[in-house]
Amino acid sequence: MSSTSNPKCDIKDEGLSPQGKRRIEWAGRSMPVVEEIRQRFLTEQPLQGRRVSACLHVTTETANLIIALRDGGADVTLCASNPLSTQDDVAASLVKDYGISVFAIKGEDNPTYYSHITAALDHRPHISMDDGADLVSTIHSKRRELLTEIIGGTEETTTGVIRLRSMANEGVLEFPIISVNDADTKHLFDNRYGTGQSTLDGIIRATNLLLAGLNFVVAGYGWCGRGVASRARGLGAKVIVTEVDPTRALEAVMDGFQVMPMLEAAQIGDIFVTVTGNKTVLGLQHFEKMKDGAVVCNSGHFNVEIDIPALEFLSTGHAPARDFVEEYVLKDGRKIFLLAEGRLINLSSAEGHPASVMDMSFANQALSAEYLCKNFNAMPKQVIPVPAEIDRSIAKLKLKSLDCHIDDLSNEQTEYLASWSEGT
Ligand SMILES: NC(=O)c1ccc[n+]([C@@H]2O[C@H](COP(=O)([O-])OP(=O)(O)OC[C@H]3O[C@@H](n4cnc5c(N)ncnc54)[C@H](O)[C@@H]3O)[C@@H](O)[C@H]2O)c1
Repeated sequence: MSSTSNPKCDIKDEGLSPQGKRRIEWAGRSMPVVEEIRQRFLTEQPLQGRRVSACLHVTTETANLIIALRDGGADVTLCASNPLSTQDDVAASLVKDYGISVFAIKGEDNPTYYSHITAALDHRPHISMDDGADLVSTIHSKRRELLTEIIGGTEETTTGVIRLRSMANEGVLEFPIISVNDADTKHLFDNRYGTGQSTLDGIIRATNLLLAGLNFVVAGYGWCGRGVASRARGLGAKVIVTEVDPTRALEAVMDGFQVMPMLEAAQIGDIFVTVTGNKTVLGLQHFEKMKDGAVVCNSGHFNVEIDIPALEFLSTGHAPARDFVEEYVLKDGRKIFLLAEGRLINLSSAEGHPASVMDMSFANQALSAEYLCKNFNAMPKQVIPVPAEIDRSIAKLKLKSLDCHIDDLSNEQTEYLASWSEGT
């Protein structure tokens, strides 16, 4: 599958590096916060001597983070956090132009995906950097000898944080993890605006469908779902939201969306997107009700939100209709189109989030790694939020890069906000 005999990497083709380098630099133009951190890292070397194993989507934005970590003194190895999200030209450039070990090939099968995680862990990390907690769960289940050297880790996404919290609650988490996802400068922007735009981008690139006038069903009205629903509405789709949480459902109603159970939505939807972090959100009972030609896809972290075995069970067969579109023919003759094997549509058929929003997510990653190096001795073996001062500093740097200025509180206002005695 790969074209290299370099034991420090397993990538598709080193020859793709010139295009990868140009695209990494293009993304870097929209990542001023990471660049400012990288410049400071170059002089201060806060990660000096630390080995980092990162399991992230291998994209142009991730490349800029990895370069910043390297310039801060870290020895970094990168593997993919999803079999379909790797950009092979970026992997090539990281290896060839920046001297980073990368283990990632777009379209790799499951055994290769896990062999790449093993290879990244053979780096014997001091810090694990996850998107979905695959490194941490592998360390705890199969590579416990690595625990002696690890000082901590970071986690990028909602699903990973849920997995890690359940490890911490069971008392089995063996090192501190900073939950980057929970920073305001991460989920308020990345999950909402990033997933919102890039999910639509993925669906459109895969299908070239006109969204205007279609019934567009969004399962889950969390941070990602809000973004997807609002962007689909912006393109003229009639958006329907499904939820299990009454408060979020109410919010969707008051945001102007139709809300109904999935069994009802299944009968009228033209396009379905799952973004719940849950499993079997679209299953047998829904496929049985769908219209001929319905398109189903997922933008949640794992490919378990759409029950693909159930779709296969109902079908006489399936075949590619075009890149990233698989046509399933049901026994009654209806057709259902599954995009990108039910994996993250925005990273499979498009390029993931735009760099400008990953600038903030990855600034959180870089500063959290620095924080771990300075404070790991005093940190509990728990899932820990990004410190508020880091979160705030990223918002300030991003505003500065946008040349956007805001007001300061006057002394009188600060005192007023801290007091309880003043009324009408
Ligand atoms: N595609 C991407 O690039 C990307 C980016 C960020 C996060 N994610 C992933 O997207 C998923 C959602 O993340 P989030 O930050 O929006 O989480 P969230 O917790 O804010 O929202 C998830 C929502 O789904 C709802 N839900 C759960 N089960 C449901 C069901 N059966 N039917 C309908 N709704 C249901 C929950 O009530 C909740 O409101 C996670 O897996 C996360 O890791 C993907």
